[in-house]
Amino acid sequence: MNSVSSPFITRRKFLLAAASIAASAPIRPALALATGEHRIRVAPGQARLTGPDGPRTPVWAYDGTVPGPTLRLRQGQPARIVVENGLDEDTTVHWHGIRLANAMDGVPGLTQPPIRPGENFLYEFTPPDAGTFWYHPHADSLVQLGRGLAGALIVEEAEPVAVDRELLWLLQDWRLTKDGQIAAGFGNMMDAAMSGRVGNVVTVNGAPPADLTVKAGERVRLRLANASLARIMALRFEGHRPVIVAIDGQPCDPHEPEGGRLVLAPAMRIDVVLDMQGDPGSRHAVIDDYYDGLAYTLTTLAYDAGAPLRDHPLDAPIRLPGNPLPGPDLAEAERQEIVLQGGMMGGGKLAGIGGMMGMAMPGMNGAAWAINGMSMTGDGHAGMAPQFTLSRGATCRLTMRNETAWWHPMHVHGFSLSVLSRNGSPVPHRQWQDTVLLAPKDTIECAFVADNPGDWMLHCHVADHQMAGLMTVFRVT
Ligand code: C2O
Ligand code: CU
Ligand code: CU
Repeated sequence: MNSVSSPFITRRKFLLAAASIAASAPIRPALALATGEHRIRVAPGQARLTGPDGPRTPVWAYDGTVPGPTLRLRQGQPARIVVENGLDEDTTVHWHGIRLANAMDGVPGLTQPPIRPGENFLYEFTPPDAGTFWYHPHADSLVQLGRGLAGALIVEEAEPVAVDRELLWLLQDWRLTKDGQIAAGFGNMMDAAMSGRVGNVVTVNGAPPADLTVKAGERVRLRLANASLARIMALRFEGHRPVIVAIDGQPCDPHEPEGGRLVLAPAMRIDVVLDMQGDPGSRHAVIDDYYDGLAYTLTTLAYDAGAPLRDHPLDAPIRLPGNPLPGPDLAEAERQEIVLQGGMMGGGKLAGIGGMMGMAMPGMNGAAWAINGMSMTGDGHAGMAPQFTLSRGATCRLTMRNETAWWHPMHVHGFSLSVLSRNGSPVPHRQWQDTVLLAPKDTIECAFVADNPGDWMLHCHVADHQMAGLMTVFRVT
């Protein structure tokens, strides 16, 4: 009956078999493109998500690859990206986390007309911040993201930190049938009102988990991005101490994660610096143990037998140079509050969410969630009344209160939020985030300067939740 966790268990043997077949294959390196003008074609394609000998999975892909090509841009330098739509349905591209002009934000109906089948759209923007970002559609988001449309967008610092190697893991979660097809049933009420469409196969850069060969003593910068529809991850690096240097692309005070677990909800990114302090020839698992009883090995750090690169960890600084984020003026801040409502409660009942664009009875119109009593479903569209309006340049102090029994990674377009407190306790390490994970009943306080005019989305990044009403819009004039 529960379509979320049981396929995972039954598929486990299959997963393990697939992983061992591919154990010797290196994790596929990311494609790199030069800066300047890019073209990306969106079209149906095929992928081998369980390894080279596994079944072919029909997917939707950017430039024929899953994930799409990694775009590398330079901070402060203009980029032009032409997107061609080769699908049979409308699409757009949203540059998640990039602070850009509203017209380039990729929300169909709200910031641009949808890109119709056979048509192109030119995105032009100059990324102000260096960091790890990503891109994905904002049309039919649940299905398009769930069929594979996602790619990493890296904005390079003028002066990167000194490391021996840089790695990127773009993580995706798939719900596959036994014969490797993407399972039907997108948007069913069970997923929508509960944890979203959690899948049964996780890929790293489009391939099944495999060993990662490392050298003793090397220092790696690892960029992690969770492009899953709904799967939350908590990564533990056995025998290692990753240091977080950036969250959602924005540098923070370098720190080790609480309990040694890197928690990555959908759409979140974390950059870590990892000193490979294991012994030559040793092996160390990287485990995702977010869901109780469903831990699995994402990858294994496999040390080669060679002598360590160096005796002591590098002592070069790992703090990233700051980005030009406007500092909130808390004394003069305008306060706004959003309350997350709805979802399944104990006993299989939907929490009441009735409201303006909601419905009289929960469960109608596909709405299962609401923000301040309003359910805005789908991908965002024209005619949405803004939840609140801010005047340009004002500091907004935003409280987000989760009244539901579920976890929600809440995402704001166009801005990075300075996260001030969680349940009344100050958040350390000067974190800026565009996607903040709220546990059930959590209250988060954050602040940002409304320096960018336009209508901007604010929604849960569990795609089912977004589609089913956990979304709103705010205006900066
Ligand atoms: Cu990745 Cu509306 O966002
Ligand atoms: Cu976004
Ligand atoms: Cu949610």
